[in-house]
Amino acid sequence: MIKNSKNSKRDGFTGKFGIIAAAAGSAVGLGNIWKFPYEAGENGGSAFIIVYILFVVLIGLPVMLSEFVIGRNAGKNVFGAFRTIKPGQKVWGLVGMLGVLVAFIILAFYGTIAGWTMEYLYLSFTNNLSGHSSSEYVDIFNTFTQNPIRPVLWQVFFMILTGLIVLVGVKNGIEKSAKIMMPLLLILLIGLGIKALTLPDSYKGLQFLFSPDFSNFTYKSVLEALGQSFFSLSLGMGTLITYASYVSKDENIVETSFIVAGADTLIAILAGIVIFPAVFSFGISPGGGPGLVFVTLPNVFAQIQGGEFFAIAFFLSLTVAALTSSISLLEVIVAYFKEELKIERKVSATIGVVVISILGVFCTLSYGPLKNFTIFGKTIFDAADFLASNIILPVGGFSIAIFVGWFMDQEKIKSEVTSDNKYKIKIYGVYRFLIKYVIPFAILLVFLSSIGVI
Ligand code: TRP
Repeated sequence: MIKNSKNSKRDGFTGKFGIIAAAAGSAVGLGNIWKFPYEAGENGGSAFIIVYILFVVLIGLPVMLSEFVIGRNAGKNVFGAFRTIKPGQKVWGLVGMLGVLVAFIILAFYGTIAGWTMEYLYLSFTNNLSGHSSSEYVDIFNTFTQNPIRPVLWQVFFMILTGLIVLVGVKNGIEKSAKIMMPLLLILLIGLGIKALTLPDSYKGLQFLFSPDFSNFTYKSVLEALGQSFFSLSLGMGTLITYASYVSKDENIVETSFIVAGADTLIAILAGIVIFPAVFSFGISPGGGPGLVFVTLPNVFAQIQGGEFFAIAFFLSLTVAALTSSISLLEVIVAYFKEELKIERKVSATIGVVVISILGVFCTLSYGPLKNFTIFGKTIFDAADFLASNIILPVGGFSIAIFVGWFMDQEKIKSEVTSDNKYKIKIYGVYRFLIKYVIPFAILLVFLSSIGVI
């Protein structure tokens, strides 16, 4: 009997909208809505944003395209992809392994914040978030995050949700859910942005976002901005390599990269437009750290008309954004387990969820009972975030740039970038130059200057 070629095909994305929804879903996450605003707030607002955008364009975008090139060319998980393209060079397998490892680390602390988000969504749904005074919001946040059980339950619940979508598969789980969640996210955020701009004194927030002030901007801020650009675009550990392995040979991956990086950056700025006008309008400090959206925003919602409704919209959008991102991280692990260790998808997803939930408990408890347990002066949560975002991702990005710039066959790269000459890509020369000569050295420079070597 002749096998139907459709059936023997690898599970994958069905078309352009699905790919963009899934990849943008990966990129747009807590990084944009929770992390970007508070990091900008701590590092001089617009100064940070300018440097951040510079990194997105000059480093992030070419690295993203490179991940698409590697993933689609190999059609494999991150470890398998490096091994397939350069079979003789085992060291690249290590880069792939590092990607799988960091997926565990990121998910561990990601689940903490996603769990908080779901608690706040729950509180706003049950109408328990409104009607408190400013100081009470600080207490609510501290009491909840320091509780040894409740945040852990939410974190585990969030990981189970993530696992349930991933175990269904790429086409019916990841793609389908992203196609629903991403438009929803966009509508919610635009609605919130419009509301924020109509608040009194909202121009102060915009000023903070858009007029340069370099006084709070330090060497550390530069590394922070680089790490954040990798984190927000889901780069440096093979998420997009994995997703690209499910993309058909006809898709224009250059266009996809531009759309995904553009959407991610716009949504980060949109999140800033939602948060800072609201924050300034009520005279709250922008340097609120990780608690920024959980303390200041409920406070703002309590004071505006229809606040209960906007609270639901905000925490729902944050939950949705977190979910489409955590799915992409778990898929890195599942694709690796499935293809390299031959463990079936459902079992792989289950193992992933269990291991991550256990690791995640330590991150979550580092706001409560484990608060005083520190590694190099950082709590477990902060250490995991710092290690992943500011060290492993830039190292991964560096390796990807070196791989594509110096090791991968030029012909292969060219045929991927142009989808076998289907598309005329005018920026190929610029891309090649950036990835080969500029990006590795730029990453190195940022790195060395932030640890004080230069
Ligand atoms: N980009 C997502 C965010 O901004 C998080 C994320 C998903 C991620 N996949 C990743 C971060 C891979 C680093 C690497 O929230």
